[in-house]
Amino acid sequence: MNQPNVLTQKGSLPEFQPSEIRNKFLERYKTEPLLVRSPGRINFIGEHTDYNEGFVMPAAIDRDILVAIGASADSRSTLYSVKHDETLEFDVQHPEKVTFPAWANYLLGVVRQFVDKGYDVKPIHAIIDGNVPTGAGLSSSAALECGFAFALDHLHGFGIPKLDLIHIAQWSEHNYVGVKCGIMDQFSSMMGAAGKAFVLDCRSLTYEYFPLNLKDYAIVLCDTMVKHSLANSAYNTRRAECEKGVSILKAHYPTIQSLRDVTLEMIEAHREEFSPKEYDRCTYVVAENQRVLLAADDLAKGNLASFGQRMYETHDGLSRLYEVSCLELDFLVDEAKKFGGVIGARMMGGGFGGCTINLVQKSRVNEFIETLSSAYRKNIHRDMHAYVVALKDGTSVIPAIAKPSLL
Ligand code: GLA
Repeated sequence: MNQPNVLTQKGSLPEFQPSEIRNKFLERYKTEPLLVRSPGRINFIGEHTDYNEGFVMPAAIDRDILVAIGASADSRSTLYSVKHDETLEFDVQHPEKVTFPAWANYLLGVVRQFVDKGYDVKPIHAIIDGNVPTGAGLSSSAALECGFAFALDHLHGFGIPKLDLIHIAQWSEHNYVGVKCGIMDQFSSMMGAAGKAFVLDCRSLTYEYFPLNLKDYAIVLCDTMVKHSLANSAYNTRRAECEKGVSILKAHYPTIQSLRDVTLEMIEAHREEFSPKEYDRCTYVVAENQRVLLAADDLAKGNLASFGQRMYETHDGLSRLYEVSCLELDFLVDEAKKFGGVIGARMMGGGFGGCTINLVQKSRVNEFIETLSSAYRKNIHRDMHAYVVALKDGTSVIPAIAKPSLL
């Protein structure tokens, strides 16, 4: 039997090496860069609620996008991706969208926002790298946008508040990438706190951190290693279906602004005006909002069993009503449910691939990963990856690294 792809020890993932990106920058541009890290995120509960002005319960994790940035000595600006080994030269005053390389658009949209907001952006060189798995639903794109926005701000000393940088990052995703995402991913990458999760009210953007005490349980992400191509278009369609639901109900309840203001009773009272799909989408979101608040209460009381149960309920809603799951995600959640040492599991993020999040008894983590990996290989004919994650701080500057003696 093949060995499962067990990435349980911190050291077994590519280690976080800021010195490597710094050395690359020094080699290319002969000057010391500013280094910034910005983490990926997980979400315990509250999926597809953010763009409905609802509640989410995310946290930043110990996987980072790294940005090395410095002023350009001439009028040329460049972006270089270590992963793709591709460089783009661009004009900071006219950061237009490009068809290739696609990764550059996340950054170009950020520059566009700085320019449009009247910031005097100077020519720069930037290198990006990191160890947030891409396409896994861990928001590597938000981490990239946030890390770069933060780095650009810091380099110029504009002093833009983090909340504004979050909006700049989200704008880039909407307009340069084309996904009408909510605010959760950018907010989590920027605002995460070590050892803590938080409940974010996506309407008021007020949030409350709380120390996450999972007792004997570890957070294990199982990566399906698939991302179905309809992910982005289906995401935008779901958003439109929710908006349609709001417009139906607004005719009866004029004060309603979003599904956040809607109750299941309101939907039931006007059910015949909803198409079956709109009905399913809206009832899911309304129930999910409620679940986040109940789940926060479970955690406050230390009731992990109830918390985990709600994660399963969320998965069920995402799969049957919101229809953003897929065969691979459903398979992994079913397998997790069968495995004795799991108290909660569900698909995480936008859907159509990426990861499931599982709360697994610490002493059984390796057994869990082996069991699911081999079942996945046998039934889905693919390798599953697994990541055991810890909660870390949001976007920050990496303190200067001691210079090697040769420099
Ligand atoms: C993606 C989006 C987020 C959020 C989740 C679903 O990650 O970027 O804004 O809507 O999907 O909860």
